[in-house]
Amino acid sequence: MSSSDFEPRPIDTHKPSPARIYHHMITGEVIFESDLPFIHRLYEEIPFYPLWAQHNRSFLGRAVRHMVDSGIRQFLDIGSGLPTGGNTHEVARSLASGTRVVYVDNDEEAINRARDLLRQQDVLETTAMVDADLREPSRILEHPDTKRLIDFSEPVGLLLISVLPWIPDAADPASLLAQFREAVVPGSQLAMTHVSLEDAGTEIKQQVAAGAAVFGDASTPVTLRSRHQFETFFTGWKLADPGITYATDWHPEEPVDITDYARPCNFAAIGTLP
Ligand SMILES: C[S@@+](CC[C@H](N)C(=O)[O-])C[C@H]1O[C@@H](n2cnc3c(N)ncnc32)[C@H](O)[C@@H]1O
Repeated sequence: MSSSDFEPRPIDTHKPSPARIYHHMITGEVIFESDLPFIHRLYEEIPFYPLWAQHNRSFLGRAVRHMVDSGIRQFLDIGSGLPTGGNTHEVARSLASGTRVVYVDNDEEAINRARDLLRQQDVLETTAMVDADLREPSRILEHPDTKRLIDFSEPVGLLLISVLPWIPDAADPASLLAQFREAVVPGSQLAMTHVSLEDAGTEIKQQVAAGAAVFGDASTPVTLRSRHQFETFFTGWKLADPGITYATDWHPEEPVDITDYARPCNFAAIGTLP
């Protein structure tokens, strides 16, 4: 189905979703009252989560700018979330007006809201919201909207910003990533972030471990990974300076606060396909 002729997806409001919770952390909006007990538990268990989410979202904007500055004019943004400020197509088009963007998510509210926004903005000719799961790369790559908007003979900007934590090891993230790498041409770029506890202080480790257990009650449990595991996700890509770093530290636009306790909990990097 093309994203221009969709029926809103039904939503199970009793099961908190990572997309709705992350959106709350960024915007403060409560989408369903039934999310509130879960949100309150998260605030208790991991009080730095909103700050972490803002750092993550801010990296997304810098990654899109970096890719547009490198000449990329088409993006596949997988696990794009609910639209909010600084959406990929808005950031990219503020720099290069013709840029095409395909968003992908498997969360009903993310899909419904993104499609509403794209329709309201009258940008469906150059932007689409695809209802698909990262665990099915061929469904994403062969979706009619992807084929309509992405020219796979030109470099593509792949954005997987904080979506791999929702892909368990059993789903073989390396092989999923390989399928996207094989679909794009040299000069394409991959930006990813991943929550991690490796460099976190003891107190944060305890908080995040408890928070991850809270996410176990959500529709999808979270998987934390090490710096090394994150680095292996870039197999086949040449990392841009400064390599694997914290999201806050990747070409920051403001001085980095090294006392910020959310800072070490999110690895980030951008790679280019040689
Ligand atoms: C933490 S949010 C990140 C949103 C956005 N990328 C950002 O960084 O601002 C994670 C998103 O990944 C989506 N997601 C989780 N598992 C997914 C999967 N298997 N396939 C597609 N999207 C998924 C969630 O629905 C959610 O919207």
